[in-house]
Order: sequence, then structure tokens, then C-alpha cells
Amino acid sequence: MTDNVVMTAMNHSSERPKAANPVKIQDLSLRDGHQSLFATRGRTEDMIPVAEMMDEIGFWAVETWGGATFDTMHRFLNEDPWERLRTLKRYFKKTPFSMLLRAQNLVGYRNYADDVATAFVDRTAENGMDIFRTFDALNDYRNFETVVRQIKKSGKHFQGCICYSLTEPWLGGEVYNLDYYVAKARELEAMGADSICVKDMAGLIAPYDAYTLVKALKAAVKAPIHLHSHFTSGMAQMSQLKAIEAGVDILDTCMTPYAFRTSHPAIEPLAMALLGTNRDTGFDIRKLATINGVLEKQVMPKYKHLLDDSKVSIIDINVLLHQTPGGMLSNLVNQLREMGALDKIGNVLKELPRVRKELGQVPLVTPTSQIVGVQTVNNVLYDTPDERYKMITAHVKDLCYGLYGKTAIPIDPEVQKKALKGYPRGEEPITCRPAEVLEPELEKAKKEIGDLAADLDDLLIYAIYPVTGKKFLEWKYGRAEAPASVKAITLEDVKKQDMLVKKAKAGELVEKKADAPAKSDRLRTFNVFVDNEYFTVEVDPTGDAPVIVAAAPVAVPAVAATATAPKAAAPAAAPKAAAPAADVGGTKLAAPMPGLVIRYLKNVGDKVTKGEAVVVLEAMKMENALVAPCDGAIKAIGFKSGDTVAKGATLLVIG
Ligand code: CO
Repeated sequence: MTDNVVMTAMNHSSERPKAANPVKIQDLSLRDGHQSLFATRGRTEDMIPVAEMMDEIGFWAVETWGGATFDTMHRFLNEDPWERLRTLKRYFKKTPFSMLLRAQNLVGYRNYADDVATAFVDRTAENGMDIFRTFDALNDYRNFETVVRQIKKSGKHFQGCICYSLTEPWLGGEVYNLDYYVAKARELEAMGADSICVKDMAGLIAPYDAYTLVKALKAAVKAPIHLHSHFTSGMAQMSQLKAIEAGVDILDTCMTPYAFRTSHPAIEPLAMALLGTNRDTGFDIRKLATINGVLEKQVMPKYKHLLDDSKVSIIDINVLLHQTPGGMLSNLVNQLREMGALDKIGNVLKELPRVRKELGQVPLVTPTSQIVGVQTVNNVLYDTPDERYKMITAHVKDLCYGLYGKTAIPIDPEVQKKALKGYPRGEEPITCRPAEVLEPELEKAKKEIGDLAADLDDLLIYAIYPVTGKKFLEWKYGRAEAPASVKAITLEDVKKQDMLVKKAKAGELVEKKADAPAKSDRLRTFNVFVDNEYFTVEVDPTGDAPVIVAAAPVAVPAVAATATAPKAAAPAAAPKAAAPAADVGGTKLAAPMPGLVIRYLKNVGDKVTKGEAVVVLEAMKMENALVAPCDGAIKAIGFKSGDTVAKGATLLVIG
């Protein structure tokens, strides 16, 4: 069969001929679409109205799960991730489900033990998953071994990914060249891949590189070739077309409201572009339009406030300039803003390629993009002229130890040695498959969580996300009340908000009394958080109704901004700024950044030495082991596991 795309429709015929080799389409709206544009906040109830219609389109698959969904659902939406699969499966009767699986990282940010990985894949298949799109951030396929064994055992489709990465502005250079990708595809085929996906998470792939790559892969392996390319840089539609000309089998798209920006090309223009050719998708464009109509009217109003509308451009040319993935860049900006160091962004972008190379020229994808990004920020903020890598994150230490796998080139020996000094697992890095050094985790997790986990699905939520997973299970079984921040907003709420905005614009929102009473000493100030705005409200009790004397929106504090920023892992609740520990005398350990307290490694009364790790704080999805600033005994502890803290909060006091 020729690769050329040719017109098969007869000019005088009104009949649409069936294409000889239709391009197969996977729809990503229900996973990557809302993950890319709406901070993964899509709720199951908002997928149901279009599910049956989408099932009629003829998609090769719909992506419904994986990536950040598992995390966001239990943490921010109070939704059981397993339940979503079972619910959607009742509406999608024909179209297979696909998920994004981070190989041995599953749906989390570290390698889990083999027992957790096997149980997770088994339960995912049982709950309705059909296609397991599997990737490893380092393209180290030893991290595939355990999950692939179970995918095959469950009789499901194993799609192997090659993370697309570059060091130059084009396909080539020392590491990420054609030979590299062909070799990776052959490895995947040897592992039994049912299809092979080029995963271009950053929108790096240029149209003619896509052509060259797909041609080479089609010649090298038998498995169908699937291209996943984000729109971020603006090249994806062109790359899709060139990939089609090179004979690509499957492409990823989104329904229009979930498309473009950092998401994916839309399906409708592609379907029209291929109409009447031998690669025609065969999709009914009117059915697609009907689905978009429902989404626009019934669903998108609830999410549009999450869209990053801070700039007018829908493309981000940073990728074209310096190969920094869009999502990673916005994370860096958020992190710097939180630390009050946004002016350092230029230094960070300059330092980034150097840190990446020193850490083994890893592809930049979750979690390596965060690992490299956060470390780069740390270097820019804390390094001194005579010492680099002063504050090394726990994840960089794990990477240097080999816990993520083999990097594309060896890690800089000096950086590696410094990172592994005093590393608990040992100072000598491993070279084996990472999970081989991990102790089984499920039994331990079961003992810890007890009967709060009613079944294996619950247990896996806890095993993968111990802190937020436990919180979720407490909400699920009524042992704790879920906060208002995790509740869904309704169309009614949206209407009310729109009305308020209209009134505010017309100057009718606040009725000011000309003769406001003097403020008494009983006046109390409240911060009211509404999405990414916050209002300071002063309430003065008068005996009858409280008089609101001020309701002016003020500049958004960094912490509140990140709670709704796309892809940021900031806490949803207003952070606690002051803790009782702040009043205790002694040397204070302050939070260097806002974050989530994972655990204290010491108790009150414990002796500590300067430089010893005392508390683990999660910020920007990275765990940071914070060390004692001096010798002494712990006099006070400010928070507990699961608390969110503001920058500068007193975590503990040493005396
Ligand atoms: Co993606």
C-alpha cells in the first residue's frame, strides 16, 4: 500500500467513499484534555452528558484515566478514581478505554514496589481498562517489566511509549536522534508491544521530523504507530498531517472545547481535512458538532474559570526557543512566584540545560520535568559562587541513586557523589532494575490503614497516596467531613457568579453607606477565597446584623493563586500561616516554600544534629527533606501530617 494520501472521492458523487486505510483516532478530552487545560478538575458527572454520543463516533479508543486524574480526583474532587472507570464504562459500550500509566510510577510520582504495581494493573483491568499506554520518564524499559507482565496476564492491550525528547531544536544530536528512537521501538516490540506511541508531551516534534520519524518506525517495526503530540508550540496539526503522509496509524485529538493551547489538536478540522481521502476517518462531523454543543452549554461554563487566560496567545513559543515544555515552564513560574523570586526566571532558564545534562540528559516529562525544574530553581536560589547544589531535593537523590532507572547519559559524578552523601539506602548507586531494591509495600500499607480500606481498591489509593489517600478514605466513609473546596459547583453557582461579576463591573456590587459607623475594637478581619481571587472582609459585631465595612478585592497572594493554577500541586485549602510553635523560644525551622507536610521524622524531645533531616514537606509535587538548622532537642512541632503550610510557617522549634 502506498503511503501517499490521495483523494478517493469522485467529484460528481455525493456518496462519501469508505477510506482504504482510515486514520484511527483516540480521543483525549476526558483525560489529557482537561488535565492540560483545566488542571485535571473534570468531574465524572460532567463526562456523562456526552459519553453515549462519543461512543457513537467510532474512536479507536477514549482516554479516560491515568496521568494526574487519580491524584486530582481523590485530593481535590472527593471522587473515587475507581468509581469513575466503572461509571463511564456503563455509557461507553463499544469504544475501548485507554489510560496513561507511568510504568512503575503507576499514577504517582515515584517507583512503587512490584506488589503494588501488579495489584494496581490487575485492579485497573478488572475495573474496565482496555489499553494501557505505558511510559517511563527515562525511557528505561526495565521499569515496564512488572506492569507489562500483568497487562498481558489480564489480556489487555500494551501500548509502549517512547518519550520524545530533544537537546537540539531538531531531531538529532548526540542522544535523541533517529537511531535512538528506532532502537527504543525495537525494544518495545521485543517486549510484546501491541502498539507503539511516540509521546511528545511538550509539543516538540516538528512536522518534517514527524515525517522522518514515523517513516523510520514504520520500516523498523510491525506494531501500529501512534503519535501523541501536544499543541503547545503550535506545530501539532502540521506534524499530524506529515505523520499521516508517512503512514502513521493512530493519532490523538480532543473535542474542540478541550483542544489547543497546551492540549491537543481538535478532531473536527482533522476529520474535514481528510474527508474523501484514502485516510478519511469516516467520522460524522455533525455528530461531533452536537457533542461540542452540549459541552459548550452544559459543561464548559463550570470550568472556564480554570482556563489560564493570563495571556492572549494560545501558543507558547518557549519550546521553539529552548525546548522547555510548556507545563514545566508554568510550574517553574509558579514556584518562583511562591518564593517571591519571579525575577529569577531568566537565570532558571539558563541554568536548566546545565542541570539537565548533569542529571543525565533525561527527557523532560512527569516526574523528571519536576525533578530537574525544582532542582534548577533550588540551585538558582540557594547556591553560592563557591558551592553548587546546596539544597538537593530528595527526588534528585533518588535519581542519583538509580531509583528511577538508567539516565540517557551518565549523571555527573561530582553531583552524584554530593547527592548520595549520607543517603539512607547507601552512597553507592545501583545499576539493577529499580524496583528490585524496593521492599513489598502492600502488607505494610494494610497494617497502617486498617479497616479504613474496605477493599483492595481503597488500599491502593492509600498505598499510592498515603497522606491525601487517607484523608480521602476518611471522607468516603464519613469519618471526616469533606471541606467545601472539594464540592462541585453547579450551573446555578456559575450563573450567580456571572451575575456578581456583571454587577461589580456596573459598580453595583457594594452598597456603601455614606455614614459608616466607626470601627470598634471587636472588629475581625477575614480572608475570603473565591477561586483565584481573594477578598478581605472586616466584620464588626454590633448586636444585630454584622456590618460589612470593606469588601475590596486585593492582589492575589501567591499561595491562593497556585491552588487553581493548572498543574500546580498546591494545597486547595487556605494554608495555615501561624502555628502555636511560632510562640516557643528557640531556633525555628521555617517552611522555605508553601506546601503539604508529609511527615515529621522526629518527635518533641528527640535530639537532633545540624543537617539531620527532620520533616518532609511536599511542594510542587516534590518531597523536600528539610534539615535541622542547629544541634539540640525538638521543643515544639507546629503541624501534623497532611497540614498545608504557608511559606515562613514555623514547622518546628529546636532548643
Ligand atoms: Co499528554
